[in-house]
Amino acid sequence: MADSAPVRLAVLVSGNGTNLQVVIDRIEAGEINARMVCVVSNRQDAFALKRAEQHGIPTIIHEIGAYANRQAYDTALVEILRNQDVQLVLLAGFMRILTDVMVNAFPHAIMNIHPALLPAFPGLHAQQQALEYGVRFTGCTVHFVDIGTDTGPIILQAVVPVEADDTEETLAARIQQEEHRVYPEAVRLFCAGKISMNGRRVRILS
Ligand code: GAR
Repeated sequence: MADSAPVRLAVLVSGNGTNLQVVIDRIEAGEINARMVCVVSNRQDAFALKRAEQHGIPTIIHEIGAYANRQAYDTALVEILRNQDVQLVLLAGFMRILTDVMVNAFPHAIMNIHPALLPAFPGLHAQQQALEYGVRFTGCTVHFVDIGTDTGPIILQAVVPVEADDTEETLAARIQQEEHRVYPEAVRLFCAGKISMNGRRVRILS
């Protein structure tokens, strides 16, 4: 493991949290030089919160309810993350679009995993979009978050075939297997200081 201090990591979730789980597992295995300082959910029933609790990671429920608009919600979110000195934010099935307030607070320090080969099929129901379009291959993309929807600089991608009898569910499951490989790998690279930017191109340093 690297000699440098562990990167302070926060993960934002809304649902099952399988991507959260693989990152926790890789940190606990000593393969990612990070400390997960909190898991934030916009839903109190997210199973991801239970996963975090099982590993002794502090959880925060941050619901939209109390806030007048998305900017106000994100302003409070930035404060939560800054209070923890967070250096890297992961979106892991977080089903809210971030505003400029969050994006500008963490430039090139918010990652997202999207279940398609961007720039194809951004937004919701990416797997269904791929099926309806009739592509032979789709996959997943880890990217930095910018102000657009799924438009930020691409860090890693993985390709999966689309089978003739695929449903949205079977395709999503095949894509998730690759998500669970590439997302922790992108986090590992970031935490090892092996990611640099050249315009919107991401360079992986050896
Ligand atoms: C993942 O498949 C991820 O690609 C998708 O949500 C799922 C969360 O699963 N994200 C998006 O669709 C974002 N547009 P998880 O909660 O088991 O990690």
